[in-house]
Amino acid sequence: MIMKNLVLHNDVAIPQIGLGSWQAMPGGEAYDAVATALRAGYRHIDTAAIYGNEEDVGQAIRDSGIPRGDIFVTTKLWNTDHGYGRAKQAFLDSLQRLGLDYIDLYLIHFPFGGRICETWKAMEELYGEGRVRAIGVSNFTTEHLDYLMRGAAITPMVDQVEYHPYLSQDPLQRYCDEHRIVIEAWSPLGSGRFVEDTNVRAIAVKHHRSIPQIILRWDIQRGVVTLPKSVHQQYIEENLDILDFRLDATDMASLNALNRDWHTGTNPELIPIDQE
Ligand SMILES: NC(=O)c1ccc[n+]([C@@H]2O[C@H](COP(=O)([O-])OP(=O)(O)OC[C@H]3O[C@@H](n4cnc5c(N)ncnc54)[C@H](OP(=O)(O)O)[C@@H]3O)[C@@H](O)[C@H]2O)c1
Repeated sequence: MIMKNLVLHNDVAIPQIGLGSWQAMPGGEAYDAVATALRAGYRHIDTAAIYGNEEDVGQAIRDSGIPRGDIFVTTKLWNTDHGYGRAKQAFLDSLQRLGLDYIDLYLIHFPFGGRICETWKAMEELYGEGRVRAIGVSNFTTEHLDYLMRGAAITPMVDQVEYHPYLSQDPLQRYCDEHRIVIEAWSPLGSGRFVEDTNVRAIAVKHHRSIPQIILRWDIQRGVVTLPKSVHQQYIEENLDILDFRLDATDMASLNALNRDWHTGTNPELIPIDQE
């Protein structure tokens, strides 16, 4: 299995499949999931300050014996840490909990807080100092991105958003393509809601694959990074085993047609644009 990479606009490579870790419990479960994933061949782990598992994630990475430079690590700044000074401190706290010297990708978790431009300035500086290899945002609509970029020196390299066949984010993807922002798919399996999805079953049967594998393959072919979460070895391995088959144009069209702009989580369109 050869992990496929995408390339961010600053030429940093990002593995197209990463392990999600939201709701992977601290104190063992998250550690074991990350250790299992790294053994299975994952080289990209997604965490966040608010998940409460940065210590476990970092420990599993450090214990893996895999060179640090071979693993892409993302964490995120939480809503209560906006503002220039707080953002810098939040970054240092995450770094310390992870027990790492640098982070590959640091994201603003949500465009809440009223001070996202100040936060972004701090993140630009962290990037300039080489403390992070890439900076980006999460749950930003095109309007939030427009607002941020008006005062930004650096265009975000990533926007991590809810993304699955029922929320295919076509307008955002066109916008991100134009600005060379890579989209990452959160809840690609709808937090588990779609693992038995009857609309996807026929395509799964045709390819002798599981429904999650079809959905994740659809992500890959649409050119986004995908972040399936699991704490079970069987699923962790299954979700990575999607690089040796291809969905044809008919399969892709059927999956694309499932879109109904359905949000399982917070709809960021409801988050007001900052007025700084
Ligand atoms: N930026 C944001 O605001 C944001 C929001 C949500 C999520 N995220 C990121 O995106 C990641 C993924 O999203 P998510 O955690 O909502 O969930 P998800 O990946 O859409 O689905 C995870 C659920 O599906 C199950 N599952 C995974 N693979 C499976 C398989 N092959 N067969 C059957 N069941 C399977 C998991 O089971 P088990 O865990 O029991 O094994 C878990 O219950 C998160 O972990 C997080 O890193 C980011």
